[in-house]
Amino acid sequence: MLDVLLDGLASLEYRGYDSAGIAVEAGEDLWRARAATGTRSLDDLRKLASAAPAGVFAGIGHTRWATHGAPVEANAHPHLDCTGTVAVVHNGIIENCRELSEMLLGEGHDLISETDTELLAHLVERELATGASLADALRATLRQVEGAFALAVMWPGEPGTIVAARRVSPLVLGRVDIAGPPTAGPGTAGPGTAGPPTAGPGTAGPGTAGPPTAGPEGCQWMLASDVPALLGRTRTFWVIEDDQLAELRAGSMRVTTLAGKDVEPSELHVEWDVEAAQKGGFDDFMSKEMHEQPRAIADTLLGRALPGGLLALDQMRISDEELREVDKVVVVACGSSYHAGLVAKFAIEHWARLPAEIDIASEFRYRDPILDRRTLVVGVSQSGETVDTLQAMREARRWDAKVLVISNVVDSSMAREADGVLYTRAGPEIGVAATKTHLAQIVALEVLALYLAQLRGIIYPTEVERLLDDIARLPELVQLALDRSDSVRAVAAKYAATRDFFFLGRNVGFPVALEGALKLKELAYLRAEGYPAGELKHGPIALIEPGTVVVGVATRTRLWEKMMGNIAEVRSRGATVVLVANDGDDQAGSEADDVLWVPATHPVLAPVVDVVPLQLFAYHLARRHGHDVDRPRNLAKTVTVE
Ligand code: F6R
Repeated sequence: MLDVLLDGLASLEYRGYDSAGIAVEAGEDLWRARAATGTRSLDDLRKLASAAPAGVFAGIGHTRWATHGAPVEANAHPHLDCTGTVAVVHNGIIENCRELSEMLLGEGHDLISETDTELLAHLVERELATGASLADALRATLRQVEGAFALAVMWPGEPGTIVAARRVSPLVLGRVDIAGPPTAGPGTAGPGTAGPPTAGPGTAGPGTAGPPTAGPEGCQWMLASDVPALLGRTRTFWVIEDDQLAELRAGSMRVTTLAGKDVEPSELHVEWDVEAAQKGGFDDFMSKEMHEQPRAIADTLLGRALPGGLLALDQMRISDEELREVDKVVVVACGSSYHAGLVAKFAIEHWARLPAEIDIASEFRYRDPILDRRTLVVGVSQSGETVDTLQAMREARRWDAKVLVISNVVDSSMAREADGVLYTRAGPEIGVAATKTHLAQIVALEVLALYLAQLRGIIYPTEVERLLDDIARLPELVQLALDRSDSVRAVAAKYAATRDFFFLGRNVGFPVALEGALKLKELAYLRAEGYPAGELKHGPIALIEPGTVVVGVATRTRLWEKMMGNIAEVRSRGATVVLVANDGDDQAGSEADDVLWVPATHPVLAPVVDVVPLQLFAYHLARRHGHDVDRPRNLAKTVTVE
């Protein structure tokens, strides 16, 4: 059984993790082992597991990608309650964790970790104390919980039982039929997986385990947060839907709603091999990660909106008073993160009415920046380790500026050194080219802009609420844009022989043009120049000749008319024009040879949606040219050299 747990966790290794742990039944007790040694955690956990009790029938395990709290052993799953007998593994984010932890502390519970997951163990403990069964205790717990979860719980008070539930975060059940006499005991478990970035995402997911069972011929039930964890043992799965709970016991499996009504879970037969399953059935990680963008945005937003139109940020070690005194914001970043920062400049100036500068991090500290304690420097970095951005942040601290970081990795070097952190919760990104982390960064920065606006009293709470509603719709709009991948592929196919592209945009469309050009360079190895369309006439228009391909971001943002004027300029010189335009915009459509249609949103939020067809355009061209989209040549995911 331990092998099932550990092998299952190993199958999810590709997602990245910072710690790992298991808990198994040990008579009337639980036996738990955890390791927080980064990428060595699973190896170390295997060594620790050699001391596990013999003959265990049920267990749960987890690999964690930190979202709440640093990647240290105390924060690794499984988490226990005060009695040390309720063990929980969890993927997802508990949104109302502040209120819940205040309540639990008020009742005298001992909270040991910094995680939201531990709260679940204590909530189950409270319910068990009323005499509830484990399943009912979990039902009652989940009624108090807001947010996303895939979780599994064990308690030796009900030996051989694992109860699991999900909302938003995935959870699958698998059954292994065992020839011969029925086994007693449960089976096993699986792993969990990683969560979003921490702390949320931080989080990782569970893996989990399963029990027992014995069918007529004997079988083991297992559960996991993702198919690859169990694929070595079964190809038949049952999918647990939102707000459903699975009870796995020796000899039986039952799925109910959170209200306790029995449901028949849908069966899923998986033909993928492990590698395909790790990619979620997509051809590559980039594609999978692009399709995870709606989720990444939604997770990044979880728990940010407070009642009354207020906003919450993570780990803010800068007081609201200090933030109110800020008179200038300077964003520093590299690559795609820099492009997200460019969008932030618009959002911060527009909503918070604060001067905002944006700097390429590798230039910043060599240009004598003017900073003081009233400057807020925002470092944007998915990895949190990019040395140029880290050094830029250090330079800012030298000048006594307040430093905030937007990062996808909890406890990264930048997160540790900053005065405050706002985490994106995109989950681990394996493809080298930034996609889901980029979109999550833009959303996090837009939320930051609203936060500053709110603190400065520039914006009415009702307006914040209205904008948050628009932001909350972004996942749906991004999904619509992704659903058009086939049309983008058809457009890309027409340009398969083109070697040079011009990407043009204005206002918030300019960073989108830059990002579209960067994606094409790094993935398809094609020359692509991103330019502010109004600058064309100051030089680059000399390059436009019949057949030059111009990709324009022409959604209905502030400078749409001017953008269309610039498009007319290149068309009149014979350029072939591809436009990103809003659905139904026939006027834009009539000025283009090809259109990449996207749904409309608030103009300041438009980059989040508009960049999606350009990611897809680069992706499809790169594939057509036969390039490895996950590992473009000469590039590293984390750039720790200057
Ligand atoms: C582009 C890309 C890079 C990174 C840049 C910064 O697809 O991935 O341009 O955006 O190297 O990396 P982080 O965000 O980790 O600081």
